[in-house]
Amino acid sequence: MDLVDLSILGPDQLRDWERDGFLVLPGFVPSERCEALKAHVNSMLAGIDPDTDGSLTVFSTTEQSHASDEWFLGSGDTVRWFFEDGAVVDGRLSRPMPLAVNKIGHAMHDLDPTFDTFSRAPELAALAADLGLADPRLLQSMYIFKQPGIGGEVICHCDHTFLWTEPQSVIGLWFAIEDATLANGCMWAVPGGHQIPVKTRFRLVDPSDRNRGTVTDVLDDTPYPVADLVPLEAAAGTLIALHGTLPHWSAANTSDRSRHAYTMHLIDGTADYLADNWLQRGADFPLRGFN
Ligand code: FE2
Repeated sequence: MDLVDLSILGPDQLRDWERDGFLVLPGFVPSERCEALKAHVNSMLAGIDPDTDGSLTVFSTTEQSHASDEWFLGSGDTVRWFFEDGAVVDGRLSRPMPLAVNKIGHAMHDLDPTFDTFSRAPELAALAADLGLADPRLLQSMYIFKQPGIGGEVICHCDHTFLWTEPQSVIGLWFAIEDATLANGCMWAVPGGHQIPVKTRFRLVDPSDRNRGTVTDVLDDTPYPVADLVPLEAAAGTLIALHGTLPHWSAANTSDRSRHAYTMHLIDGTADYLADNWLQRGADFPLRGFN
């Protein structure tokens, strides 16, 4: 039987998803697959020398913010790495590459065979269908390190702000590759907060020329109710699904343990992905589903 035809969520889980805007699924990924993905990422990093490939200069000075912007805005259809604040000092890494990188993104799921296999597991296709995606498309992938001591806070936001479709369709799938705890900066979310109208939209100023940079449109200047955030501690192998309008946040990692996570964002192919979203890919590199 094809797993895509199976329902993976029970009625109680579907009710929780509708009510809360998120769903925590412990043990979704076997620990050996988490370990294998982490080992693969380490091998990727071992092949990167930011001192010689030029990428380090992108992050070295504030004068090069344009280069930094281009490194980011051009990453939608390739695989690039980004450093933690504090990891680049005077144009040099202040620590070894594996402890300096903030994240890798944003198209590993299409370009890297190991990420492709991880991202297109049949049970994920079944989950996407259960969560309401009629024509799921894998838009973006990120491997997030949340480094010990310097892993930064991610401010309270919703993903629709950054990956806008009409109608709203984005769903985040967040995999704990290592244990995520209060100490090392686990995810927090506002239960039911997906009902709050989206407050901001981050987009290109001019979709025909990304050199003109980005802008954030403020649709509602009232803050999210951050007092309502609840922690979603997650053992390695846990999958957390996040509705695209759900406010979520994570603290800085002040502990001595990293908090690796892998996250994918799915959209519905039946929705309109706007041309002025920051993340774009060429016409010769169309979004794919789970096949
Ligand atoms: Fe997010």
